[in-house]
Amino acid sequence: MQRHLISAADLTRDDAVLILDTAEEMARVADRPIKKLPTLRGRTVVNLFFEDSTRTRISFEAAEKRLSADVINFSAKGSSVSKGESLKDTAQTLEAMGVDAVVIRHGASGAPYTLANSGWIDAAVINAGDGTHQHPTQALLDAFTMRRRLVGRDVGLGRDLAGKRITIVGDVLHSRVARSNVDLLHTLGAEVTLVAPPTLLPVGIGSWPCEVSYDLDSTLPKADAVMMLRVQRERMNAAFFPTEREYARRYGLDADRMAKMPADAIVMHPGPMVRGMEITAEVADSDRCTAIEQVANGVSIRMAVLYLLLGGNEPAVGQARPSVSQQPSDRRPAHTVSTDEEK
Ligand code: NCD
Repeated sequence: MQRHLISAADLTRDDAVLILDTAEEMARVADRPIKKLPTLRGRTVVNLFFEDSTRTRISFEAAEKRLSADVINFSAKGSSVSKGESLKDTAQTLEAMGVDAVVIRHGASGAPYTLANSGWIDAAVINAGDGTHQHPTQALLDAFTMRRRLVGRDVGLGRDLAGKRITIVGDVLHSRVARSNVDLLHTLGAEVTLVAPPTLLPVGIGSWPCEVSYDLDSTLPKADAVMMLRVQRERMNAAFFPTEREYARRYGLDADRMAKMPADAIVMHPGPMVRGMEITAEVADSDRCTAIEQVANGVSIRMAVLYLLLGGNEPAVGQARPSVSQQPSDRRPAHTVSTDEEK
């Protein structure tokens, strides 16, 4: 594992599978009455959010607290950033306070990379979404959700998503979720098809490791998972489609379209959902939609990432309880997770 998590493209297959397997261990902690591990006791993590967020910010905070880290929340609104302070000065202020990890969301693509490579701080940097570029923990939680649903929860450890067919639909142009998913799903052996109007596909899409289609209906019957993306109006400076009604008619997922998917295929959405636009309320609330499950899985993934970046080389916290799903020993993470009470 690298010291920072900036892009899903930086992860090897083994890195990604290690994070997914560690997240399975973390998920077991969430099923216990006391959902806390002492792993990051005495470590300080700062959540540095320059852009709006609900799920990602709360999810990182929950993950940090479950690992017993000291958590500092920073949002640009109400801070000295609104007085014109630069990222460098903000970073140096954090460094002076002795932080061990910085979770950063920023409107500028590349901001987390700059922070990690500038020499301004020593802390591990985790990208929680930068502009239209990357959102690696979202791709990891999506892959975790797919592995559980499509490969199996108990046989999943050590496994990737080889041969699974994933369709990603909507505003690919502005979506860091789509970029990160294409990178990670390709690394994990899945076959990805992007579906969007031509105006919402980026220049150079031909070099991405995926298929591209303009026709949603023809891709649905062969998909194992269909991931719907929000139309990111806040990043648009022009009209990319005639009307919302027209967009929903051609690229929205409603019950009739969902019926064209194989019976066990799932519908995914990173949130926030715009009901009536890319997804109807009926589909969003159906059993096949994993949006809420993705949020819960996000906490386990972020715990795994923090653990591996900040403490993963040290022995685990106590002895592991033998897991229900015993795996081939060479595929298991070198470290396992347990609570104090198990020592
Ligand atoms: C996404 C994001 O912020 O990139 N949401 C998320 O992190 N759960 C997608 C979006 O905003 O539509």
